Amino acid sequence: MISRRVNDIEYAIRDIAVIANQVEQKGKKIYRLNIGDPLKYDFITPPFISDALAKVSHDGKNFYADSLGVLELRKEISKFLKNKKKIDVTHDDILVTAGVTEGIYFLLAALIERGEEFLIPGPTYPLYINNTKFYDGIPVEYELDENEGWDPNIDDMRKKITNKTQGILICSPNNPTGGIFSSEKVKQIIDLAGEYNLPILSDEIYDQITYEKEYVSPVSLSKDVPVIAMNGFSKSDLMTGWRLGYLYYHDPENKLTELKEGMAKLARARLSASSIAQYAAIEIFRTKSDHTKELVRKLKERRDYSYNRIRKIEGISCVNANGAFYLFPKIDFNEFDRWDNDKDFVIDLLKETGVCSVYGSGFGDFGKGHIRLTFLPNKDILEEVYDHIENFLK
Ligand SMILES: Cc1ncc(COP(=O)(O)O)c(C=O)c1O
Repeated sequence: MISRRVNDIEYAIRDIAVIANQVEQKGKKIYRLNIGDPLKYDFITPPFISDALAKVSHDGKNFYADSLGVLELRKEISKFLKNKKKIDVTHDDILVTAGVTEGIYFLLAALIERGEEFLIPGPTYPLYINNTKFYDGIPVEYELDENEGWDPNIDDMRKKITNKTQGILICSPNNPTGGIFSSEKVKQIIDLAGEYNLPILSDEIYDQITYEKEYVSPVSLSKDVPVIAMNGFSKSDLMTGWRLGYLYYHDPENKLTELKEGMAKLARARLSASSIAQYAAIEIFRTKSDHTKELVRKLKERRDYSYNRIRKIEGISCVNANGAFYLFPKIDFNEFDRWDNDKDFVIDLLKETGVCSVYGSGFGDFGKGHIRLTFLPNKDILEEVYDHIENFLK
């Protein structure tokens, strides 16, 4: 006995891990390049943040927090947005969540009625597909054009807006492509959203993990179109397991008043995000630290190494990542008779070499024919991984 809505949930990133565990039990070494968690590799939470966690717990901050989030933390986030990103939102515009994940659940719960549509990039993070369906809505993918560095195809987006569309998602830097949407395309999306009176949801979890290309936030480009931006501490502060994030509303014309009230109701109904995580996170804003810069420096080396290995493999092509920590190469199935789809390829690669990647179709229809590989492991491990992939394809 299980509801249809739960039965239909698919999450390729973790579903493939089940097969990896079976292969591991047979004695094979597994290279887990499927999960976007730096802490599973040689990255650690900065010690001053861990120390802050222990301290606030000893200091007795172990109660349920305010449902909207600890006030001091929301004030620090507001100051940070103003100083670092020139974004003007007060603490009243900020809601602290248990990771961006909870923000996504809340927003789609509040926005989507049965049969309504939500426009998402194709390919993108599977949670958006799952959660839209979970609330009986229809995820509609607009194309990210691989030939244009995975920039959005605005004509395709326009064609897909209907009277059932409830919002448009921007996810930049994007998972799984590593692409950063160009400012021109973001402006065009904002104009389109304005034309159809739609809110924009902006997933900015990777906004501090960028390489050559500059990231510009949709909020800073939008005058009057409402944007709900989601961000968190998981990736840039190396705190994936803490489950802490936030969202904020850019709403100069007060179009989101009802939505904000609904979101606050949802927040109250789940009591609060972790109080000790919130009190400890305040220290991140009050302490000078280069941990994010250092993370990006290491990741860039690993990206460069991975990209240089991949692009030399025959039958695979790859757009380099501008942000996040994934490469999303395309497999030319005309070159290889043995497989005709990404899922079979990924499973065979895993069984034969122990390299665990994620099949691109797990990120929506536009991901078909691709695989996602993180470049989180250190160079020695990456070297083994790419030797294996090369030999496998020979
Ligand atoms: C695009 C994107 N959004 C959200 C999340 C989840 O973030 P959080 O840990 O804050 O829930 C991830 C995790 O991989 C992600 O890739």
